[in-house]
Amino acid sequence: MKLLVVGSGGREHSIAKKLLESKDVEQVLVAPGNDGMTLDGLDLVNIGISEHSKLIEFAKENDIAWTFIGPDDALAAGIVDDFNQAGLKTFGPSRLAAELEWSKDFAKEIMVKYGVPTAAYGTFSDFEEAKAYIEKQGAPIVVKADGLALGKGVVVAETVEQAVEAAHDMLLDNKFGDSGARVVIEEFLDGEEFSLFAFVNGDKFYIMPTAQDHKRAYDGDKGPNTGGMGAYAPVPHLPQSVVDQSVESIIKPVLKGMIAEGRPYLGVLYAGLILTADGPKVIEFNSRFGDPETQIILPRLTSDFAQNITDILDKKEPVITWLDEGVTLGVVVASEGYPLDYEKGLPLPKKTDGDIITYYAGAKFAENSRALLSNGGRVYMLVTTADTVSAAQEKIYDQLKKQDTTGLFYRHDIGGKAL
Ligand code: AMP
Ligand code: GLY
Repeated sequence: MKLLVVGSGGREHSIAKKLLESKDVEQVLVAPGNDGMTLDGLDLVNIGISEHSKLIEFAKENDIAWTFIGPDDALAAGIVDDFNQAGLKTFGPSRLAAELEWSKDFAKEIMVKYGVPTAAYGTFSDFEEAKAYIEKQGAPIVVKADGLALGKGVVVAETVEQAVEAAHDMLLDNKFGDSGARVVIEEFLDGEEFSLFAFVNGDKFYIMPTAQDHKRAYDGDKGPNTGGMGAYAPVPHLPQSVVDQSVESIIKPVLKGMIAEGRPYLGVLYAGLILTADGPKVIEFNSRFGDPETQIILPRLTSDFAQNITDILDKKEPVITWLDEGVTLGVVVASEGYPLDYEKGLPLPKKTDGDIITYYAGAKFAENSRALLSNGGRVYMLVTTADTVSAAQEKIYDQLKKQDTTGLFYRHDIGGKAL
């Protein structure tokens, strides 16, 4: 069968690469993808993620069995609804189910209604009311743009002044455009962060290994928030009991709630959690796979990925198996200046082979050759599996030292919390 993946980052590279390993898959196409993916035998389709009718036409003409949707903005724009209306199968939530991610206020309402533990909060579109709430609650406190903001619309404020300034930026200065026309202001939760992913169809769900992302740009969790600078899975210091508790108190009730609301969930559900003194609580739901978490989770999948997704879509019981030893760890290499301004067009090191995988994100062939150049904020990611976190770190960082990363940067402490 032929499959289509929508998106262009490292996440989509790892999804597509894993699908291509499946027994019955002859071709995996990625729209629009990036040139780095072609080094793994993936084929690119030059159609943007928002061009739904062109994508649908392409899927029909090319006999695509089903389409895997990577990015949140495509889901929020209703790509799944449009494909389904055209009679095409997709793995991803409808626009209404994806609202769990594209409106933080909606996610909060669902959590409160169905008893999912999360931070206490208020939602505001009026600055003076937001300010009064912040002053009443005190700091630390967290201010979030309601809508999608590429992971950058969250301010963890240590003082009341910072929080008021963030609310001002979002509500009065329109810093996040429409996304920030409403803000969710919530209690600061203290504890270790981790991510829990599940493949979902309705009330059926299949949990993946736990993962931990590193969202700040620089070592020691310093610098601005990014899409994610590196990750590892599973998180060795998280006991199974925490996973079990998260499934019972978070995953099950939210999926039941979505069914009760007439918005049954299909696709990957991503729960961003904090393990507080009162147990795991939700920081956010995402309606898709994480980037860079996918790149360190999927290499651990030992079953046939395409068959698993086909079964889930067909409501058959999938046989999903995971590597049950060692740790998979990956470090993102980004353009200097990311997540703000950066240069493009820097030469990239050669793709690794052997037991270190290179996943590409912002990468593009030079005009007259197949030499890859940087073409985005996050450029590529090196991923490996080893017995321990420190052994995996050693392999990746040794490799990175050998590479010429002029004009690029990476964190040196991915996995550090597990040591
Ligand atoms: P988000 O985009 O919602 O994942 O938030 C970005 C980051 O802000 C998270 O990864 C957390 O580190 C932090 N954060 C968000 N909400 C809270 C909260 N209620 N308490 C503490 N930290 C938070
Ligand atoms: N790694 C964070 C995200 O995908 O939202």
